[in-house]
Amino acid sequence: MFYYLIRKLLFLIDPEKSHIFILKCLNFKFFQLFNKIFSKKNQKSKKIKCMGLIFKNKLGTAAGIDKNGEYINCLSKLGFGFIEVGTVTPLPQNGHPKPRLFRITPMEGIINRMGFNNLGIDNLILNIKKSHFKGIIGVNIGKNQNTSIKNSINDYLICIEKIYLYASYIAINISSPNTTNLRNLQYGTILKHLLYTIKEKQKELHKKHLKYVPIAIKISPDLSIKELKNISKQFIKYKIDAVIATNTTLDHSSVLSLKNGSQIGGLSGLPLQKKSTNIISILSKNLGEKIPIIGVGGINSIHSAKEKIKSGATLIQIYSGLIYHGPDLIKKIIKSL
Ligand SMILES: Cc1cc2nc3c(=O)[nH]c(=O)nc-3n(C[C@H](O)[C@H](O)[C@H](O)COP(=O)(O)O)c2cc1C
Repeated sequence: MFYYLIRKLLFLIDPEKSHIFILKCLNFKFFQLFNKIFSKKNQKSKKIKCMGLIFKNKLGTAAGIDKNGEYINCLSKLGFGFIEVGTVTPLPQNGHPKPRLFRITPMEGIINRMGFNNLGIDNLILNIKKSHFKGIIGVNIGKNQNTSIKNSINDYLICIEKIYLYASYIAINISSPNTTNLRNLQYGTILKHLLYTIKEKQKELHKKHLKYVPIAIKISPDLSIKELKNISKQFIKYKIDAVIATNTTLDHSSVLSLKNGSQIGGLSGLPLQKKSTNIISILSKNLGEKIPIIGVGGINSIHSAKEKIKSGATLIQIYSGLIYHGPDLIKKIIKSL
């Protein structure tokens, strides 16, 4: 109830500014104390093993909430079982011009074309080192806007090499719709080359550091059944550790008639819910027990969180639902799972 009152005020502000404002507030000691007092009873939940790692609970933050790892401590205090930071690229970049984030309030949707605005991998490493969080930190990596698709694998290798010792798992983002041609990496020989090369790098770093860091691949919800079958085959062949399904969709048909519905960018939130759950079901049939799925897309209630798990997700993540329903939803979902 309290959050819905605050939301009324927050939704009067520009979406990107209000996002930064909320995170900065959460970082304040006063809010952390407030949260500690009110979250005490909901902290117990069943631990879960996935990718060889132990997660405190099944619900984590989706990439994009904390691109630079500046809010790891305060996000972890909200009760999340794991925090995925990023997407981060080898070099810092500004992303697309503002405005680039739009609410579709009647449908609990968001369209974004942020374009991997981030301060670069070196800055992220400093922030992870500074954080006191001892839980699971996933690091989501991407390529710089100016790197051609042909050379993009090198950007992923740079990030893997640099972040290896600081990440619990690494998520390879080949599905953002806001970086030109990035989604081409999901198909054909370039996909095989990417998967082969990153697994070789993982083997090399495993041997060097005596630490195995699992690699997850984040996919788009706009893949066809046939494309999902093909990509699953490759994930199994190259022994990918997990699949994150899904990123935002380019299908705006359900929101076209609404304010902001025709903005360019990826659509998330409730309009993505069914589509991403369907992708998880298909993936689950193709992957069987071989590769775990991290389900994300439109989770906005206990019911939708359970649906993702029923469809085959081992872990789940949330972004847009948090904007529309506030931190209370985290506790409710964790308690219910
Ligand atoms: C503003 C915004 C920024 C995002 N940035 C990233 C990103 O940098 N990397 C990424 O892999 N996904 C990013 N996403 C996608 C989310 O991680 C998630 O996959 C998607 O929003 C679906 O989940 P949701 O419906 O719970 O929001 C972003 C989403 C939003 C709304």
